Amino acid sequence: MRLSRYFLPVLKETPADAQIASHRLMLRAGMIKQSSAGIYSWLPLGFRVLKNIERIVHEEQQRAGHIPMLMPTLQPADLWRESDRYDAYGPEMLRIRDRHGRDMLYGPTNEEMITDIFRAHVGSYRELPLTLYHIQWKFRDEVRPRFGVMRGREFYMKDGYNFDISREDAMYAYDRHMVSYLRTYERLELKAIPMRADSGPIGGDDTHEFLVLAETGESEVFYDAAIADLSLGSRDIDYDDRAALRAICEEWTAPYARTDETHDPALFEALPEDRRRSSRGIEVGQIFYFGTKYSDAMGATVQGPDGKPVPVHMGSHGIGVSRLAGALIEASHDEKGIVWPEGVTPFHCGIVNLRQGDTDCDAACAQIEAGLIARGLDPLYHDRDERAGAKFATMDLIGLPWRITAGPRGVKEGKVELTSRRSGESEEMTVAAAIDRVAGIYGV
Ligand SMILES: Nc1ncnc2c1ncn2[C@@H]1O[C@H](COP(=O)(O)OP(=O)(O)OP(=O)(O)O)[C@@H](O)[C@H]1O
Ligand SMILES: [Mg+2]
Repeated sequence: MRLSRYFLPVLKETPADAQIASHRLMLRAGMIKQSSAGIYSWLPLGFRVLKNIERIVHEEQQRAGHIPMLMPTLQPADLWRESDRYDAYGPEMLRIRDRHGRDMLYGPTNEEMITDIFRAHVGSYRELPLTLYHIQWKFRDEVRPRFGVMRGREFYMKDGYNFDISREDAMYAYDRHMVSYLRTYERLELKAIPMRADSGPIGGDDTHEFLVLAETGESEVFYDAAIADLSLGSRDIDYDDRAALRAICEEWTAPYARTDETHDPALFEALPEDRRRSSRGIEVGQIFYFGTKYSDAMGATVQGPDGKPVPVHMGSHGIGVSRLAGALIEASHDEKGIVWPEGVTPFHCGIVNLRQGDTDCDAACAQIEAGLIARGLDPLYHDRDERAGAKFATMDLIGLPWRITAGPRGVKEGKVELTSRRSGESEEMTVAAAIDRVAGIYGV
């Protein structure tokens, strides 16, 4: 992509009403534009990041054996009357009446709809286990939408639902979700800690929230420092191996880690003092086991091995895909702008031409661009006629992890400069070496 043909409406001024870094930077970098309170357009740069996060979420869910689908945003109120949540959900639910006078709603979540699909098509325990998920827009009329996409009213969420014959099988689904979520956050280069949580309006027994530590997080968190050192790294995960999954979940849930809602000061105080940590966190996901709450209410039963109908055991599992875009920036930025991890960066590498219109510089940049594209990468070439300082500022603001700079002096000797956004360090090398190095970083 060439900047001269792209749509990147960066802002020079810091937006006054944006209180946290990620909100400010998403507006300044031309990633989002507010359309009304808590509702945003995802401009081209932001859209790329959102799609990259979504792709990683999809890959990790499917690796765990969960099946993607897509349910609508608008739902009939009658389904929610069956589960008794239509009145219980309160003013957060956006209620709509269609031209025939039918009550509809913009889905804040999909337990009812998925249970309706399940009961229409699944009749026997032999068709279980089953885990279906989708990534779809949700609407919750939050009292105080704020912090940009972090607490929106309309937001993009992955929500998955498991159907199992027993509590034991449903807990295996719970473990699959915990491990696949840990993997997802690790791929995003985020440290997200599972914390015992309260079940709230969804209702249930077992639930964990995943929190990314950040000063600007809305939740207060308390944890054992030992949990922050855990990582899956390159461990081979076999999702068919129940015992191995359980062991991973035990490893991650044994150290104390809770939000203010479930915090137990006595347990926390029992930790050695140097391991007690308290901070703030951003909730980027939550998993629930809620048993037969919806299957009982909505008649989702299957024929068990003895021929008798049994209500299915269910759980639901969500990841805040759009919130993650903000959380990633909270976790990775500096005074100049965003610093994207390689896995989600909107473009793999920036190209800066220090003398636009100079034959040699233009040729070098075109060669870098073509070379990166040939390796399957997406570069963003800053080919506008601007001062070097302004070009660097834009590139630093939008946070591409790598930048190749071509200037008249270097190009004469066949050299360009490769710069890491994270460390700020630069190295001179040939065009071919720079292309190879960047391709190597992305493993292509
Ligand atoms: N208003 C929102 N804007 C953006 N993301 C959200 C919003 N509400 C929830 N999410 C994301 O969706 C995930 C799953 O939804 P869930 O029902 O657990 O949310 P929640 O517990 O009500 O969130 P919160 O406590 O932050 O209001 C959350 O972990 C969060 O990452
Ligand atoms: Mg939650």
